[in-house]
Amino acid sequence: MGSLLDSVPTSGIVRIRELMYALDRPFRLDQGDLSFDVPASMKAAMRAAIDTNQTHYLQTAGLPRLKALLAAKLRARNGVPVGDDDEVLVTNGGVHGIYLAAQALVEPGDEVIVPDPEWPPAMSALMAARASVVRCPLHASLGWRLDVDELASKVGPQTKGLYLNSPNNPTGGVLTRGDLERIADLARAHDLWVISDESYEDVLYDGARHVSIVSLSGMYERAVPVCTLSKTYAATGVRVGYLAVRDERLRDRIQKLLFLTTSNVSSISQHGAIGALEGSQDIVEAYRSELQARRDLFYAGIREAAGHVFSGEPPAGAFYAFLRVDPSWVPPPGAAAGSRSWAMAEHLIGRGRIGCVPGVDFGPTGEEYVRFCFARDRSELLGALGEIRALFA
Ligand SMILES: Cc1ncc(COP(=O)(O)O)c(C=O)c1O
Repeated sequence: MGSLLDSVPTSGIVRIRELMYALDRPFRLDQGDLSFDVPASMKAAMRAAIDTNQTHYLQTAGLPRLKALLAAKLRARNGVPVGDDDEVLVTNGGVHGIYLAAQALVEPGDEVIVPDPEWPPAMSALMAARASVVRCPLHASLGWRLDVDELASKVGPQTKGLYLNSPNNPTGGVLTRGDLERIADLARAHDLWVISDESYEDVLYDGARHVSIVSLSGMYERAVPVCTLSKTYAATGVRVGYLAVRDERLRDRIQKLLFLTTSNVSSISQHGAIGALEGSQDIVEAYRSELQARRDLFYAGIREAAGHVFSGEPPAGAFYAFLRVDPSWVPPPGAAAGSRSWAMAEHLIGRGRIGCVPGVDFGPTGEEYVRFCFARDRSELLGALGEIRALFA
């Protein structure tokens, strides 16, 4: 029996879920899911697909119409110079895209640099591909961006590539065009690949703009955008993501893996994705502006209810509050030994029914932090804030 997978960590989110399911009337601020419904155009397209029996095997890399729509979107919105529509590969969500890119790019012993903190499944996917993961801190003082000089200092002879995630889960940090240009220079100079996780590309606040590193000069040759419909269309359960790959050999490898891992992504979901892309896009802005209102409501509520315990600036993107636990907070007797962020998370869940994730689960830089998802509906956020107020009065 091979043992590689024994050394790949499972996220603490699995343990958090167990704690949450044991509760009566929990506030689910732990999971990165939105309370919105998918657009009507997506529902209608999925219904029509069922009614017209679009329920058979498909082209492995995706329906031609869907690939054409995604290629057009990547060109127009992300600035990625996609040539042929066949450069697009439809995946079972972004998580599958990251897994495929990692498996296709990495050889045993290669180093891949990842931000710290970072969404744990990305790191686990790289480890499952036998990469050695090298962490590079994100800095709260820089709006949770990388220090590019520090990133450069992590590049060594074994470095194969970088995994980037902007806007970032869990911090909400957004890399600027200037950051990305310098990172692109680094990638060209050291012949590095980039996996660019753009899952939260449409979730930006206060005028912040998403720049895809893949759009920068010459980068599409060495960078793979990982995108998903999950966050943009609140379609986390539909499971449609996509990659675009210029390099033919890499594309062939990924196509092979796509076949081995899914044969093809669900036909109903792919038709739903066509519906979402062909329908009105007004809903994307409506979701975004409601998320901004929820972000502001949550941060104002936290300041008022427990400003002496939690601190942090509202993020520029994504939909998480990554809050620092004040050093004066004393964990209750019997709290999780060794980790203040686990102690706080267990306290919030056990005493207040408030879902959250310990910051350390995203990497050592998160040890003094907890993450709350503010994409839940306003009544759930207000209920959680009420409990927080009572807990820390
Ligand atoms: C940073 C990041 N990347 C990728 C994903 C994958 O999302 P999905 O597989 O639903 O497309 C998530 C989901 O939470 C995420 O936070």
